[in-house]
Amino acid sequence: MKTVTVIVGSARTGSINLKLARAVEKLAQGRLAFDFVDISGLPMYNDDLWADTPEAVTVFKEKIAAAEAVLFVTPEFNRSLPPILVNALSWASKPYGQNAWVGKPAAVMGTTPGAIGTAVAQSHLRYICTVLDMLVMGQPEVYFQTKPGLIDDDFTVTDETTKAFLTTFVERFAAFLDRVDVKTPVAA
Ligand SMILES: Cc1cc2nc3c(=O)[nH]c(=O)nc-3n(C[C@H](O)[C@H](O)[C@H](O)COP(=O)(O)O)c2cc1C
Repeated sequence: MKTVTVIVGSARTGSINLKLARAVEKLAQGRLAFDFVDISGLPMYNDDLWADTPEAVTVFKEKIAAAEAVLFVTPEFNRSLPPILVNALSWASKPYGQNAWVGKPAAVMGTTPGAIGTAVAQSHLRYICTVLDMLVMGQPEVYFQTKPGLIDDDFTVTDETTKAFLTTFVERFAAFLDRVDVKTPVAA
């Protein structure tokens, strides 16, 4: 079974994106293992810090370098990405020539109370992933509008149609990962 490194673009304790990621993890049990990486401890990106690399950065980059696959679950901020996620993307992409994202198969999703379900943020994220030379699954897209009770406190999706859709996403992502040869070394 493949392990998916999960990056949630929110540090909030009550994050609805973390809740969605946990719900998808539950639906993926037995098909994909999820490994959540906390990006909230990363300092703000600054080239100067490479001279004495912060431990949090070293640990994060090693996790990305070792990842079999990446799942981003992100809020939308001002019709783009939250800064915490941009920061994490930046750290693992540098220094020049040492981009840890290269060749990583990835999928994106996100949730908001808003009607368009983080569509614009996801579009921006897909573009950045492509620039970083990741392999991003195209379909299905998950634009998840958070509604009260849709995911309960045990991370169970309460609506059967939504549960079936997210289960299809898990199956499609697992199949995508089976098709992608992540063992092939790629140059950064
Ligand atoms: C600075 C800021 C900008 C936001 N911009 C958007 C936006 O462009 N689109 C949207 O749907 N929601 C927007 N929101 C609302 C978020 O979707 C909402 O706060 C959500 O709960 C954040 O995700 P989280 O619960 O996982 O932290 C914004 C929130 C903040 C704090």
